[in-house]
Amino acid sequence: MKPLRLDDYEDLAREYLAADVFDYYAGGACDEHTLRDNREAFTRLRLVGRVLRDVAERSLATRVLGSDISMPVMIAPVAFQRLAFDDGELATARAAAEADTLMIISTLSSVSIEEVAAATHGPLWFQLYVYKDRGLTLELVRRAEDAGYRALVLTVDAQVWGKRERDLRHCFELPSGVTMANLEGAVHGRFPSERSAPAPSAAGHGVSGSGLAATHRSMSGSGLAAHVDSLFDAALDWNTVAWLIGQTRLPVVLKGVLHPDDARLAMAHGAAGVFVSNHGGRQLDTAPATLDALEGVVEAVGGRGEVYLDGGVRRGSDVAKALALGARAVAIGRPVVWGLAAAGARGVSGVLEILRDELDVALALCGARRPDELDRAVLL
Ligand code: FNR
Ligand code: LAC
Repeated sequence: MKPLRLDDYEDLAREYLAADVFDYYAGGACDEHTLRDNREAFTRLRLVGRVLRDVAERSLATRVLGSDISMPVMIAPVAFQRLAFDDGELATARAAAEADTLMIISTLSSVSIEEVAAATHGPLWFQLYVYKDRGLTLELVRRAEDAGYRALVLTVDAQVWGKRERDLRHCFELPSGVTMANLEGAVHGRFPSERSAPAPSAAGHGVSGSGLAATHRSMSGSGLAAHVDSLFDAALDWNTVAWLIGQTRLPVVLKGVLHPDDARLAMAHGAAGVFVSNHGGRQLDTAPATLDALEGVVEAVGGRGEVYLDGGVRRGSDVAKALALGARAVAIGRPVVWGLAAAGARGVSGVLEILRDELDVALALCGARRPDELDRAVLL
C-alpha cells in the first residue's frame, strides 16, 4: 500500500520496529494529554477558505534565519535515528537536502555532527543540550560551527527528564550498535547496558531494543533518563543563554518556549528566534498544545525574532494554521522517524512530499499564493 498520509507511515513503522523502540519514539509523558492535545488543537481550529483570488502561480518557498528553504516545513531534532534505520540521520539529511529543506541535528544523534554535515549540501542547524561540563558543551558548539551548521537550537524544556511511562515499562535502553555519536570518548557514549548485540528486527530496519535483561532492571528510570539526570545541567537559566550567545557566532534559537513572558525574555537576551514546542508532549504533561500557545508567543516576540512551531503537525492544513497564527515555519519530529523506519531516505522523502502537496492545496484553497499571504483572516 502506498502511503497517502503521514499517519500511514506510522502504521508501517509500527509493523517494522520492535515495540520498545516504537514506544520510545511514539510516547509522551505521564498520561500523554499533551501528546494528544497537540493533534487535537489543530482539529479545533477551522480554516475558512477565501475564493476567487487567482492562485494559479504559487510558491511555498520561505527563508529561516537567512537560509532559503523550499517550504515552511523543517525537520525537528530527534535523537537516535539509527534505531529506526541503519543509516539513521544520514538518510534523513539526504532526504532533507533533496526536499530543499532544513534539518536540525540532535546533540543525541546516533551519527556524528561531522558525518551528517559531510553527507549533505543542505542547511543544518544543531540542537544543543547543555551539559554540566561546560567544556564539553562548548566543544559541541565549536564542532557544529566548524562543520558549517548555521544556527544553534538550545533546548530549554528538558533540564530534567519527563516521566515517560512507556520507556519505564520497557526499561528502555539503547541497544549496542546505536550510540550517542557526538559524545563518544567524552562521556559514556552509550547507556549502561547489560545487553549483547541485538538481532535486527527486520532487514535494514534498525535494531531491536528489547531484551530479557531489561525485565530484571528497576523501574526507577530508563537509561536515557539516567543520562540526562546525571549529565544535563538542571541549573540552566537565562545567564546560561547569555553565556552561550556570547560564546558563538551562530544565531541561537530557544526551543521549548510556551509562555509569552519567556518569549519576551528570549528576545531581551538576544535569541534570534523561538520554537514554540512542548517536546512533542514528552516533558511536562498537561502543558498546552503548541498551536494554542503560539499566538501569545508571536505577540510577545513582536517581530523581533522568528517564531517556529513543532508538535503534532501531520497535515498540510496544520502547517497552514500555524503560519496563519504567525509561525514562520514548522518542524516535524515523529513522522520523520516513521518514514525512516518504513523506507529510509525514501520514506522521509515521501513524508516531506506528502506534506508539501497538502500544504500547497491548503494554501491555494485559502486563497493564498505564498506562505506570507496567510493570516488570521483565514481562521475561524
Ligand atoms: C524528540 N525531541 C527532541 N528535541 C530535542 O530538542 N532534542 C532531542 O534530542 C529530541 N529527541 C527526540 C526524540 C524523539 C523520539 C521525539 C519524538 C522527539 C522533540 C522534537 O524535536 C519535537 O519537539 C517533537 O518531536 C515535535 O513533535 P512531533 O512532530 O513529534 O509531534
Ligand atoms: C527525547 C530526547 C532525546 O525526547 O530529547 O527522547
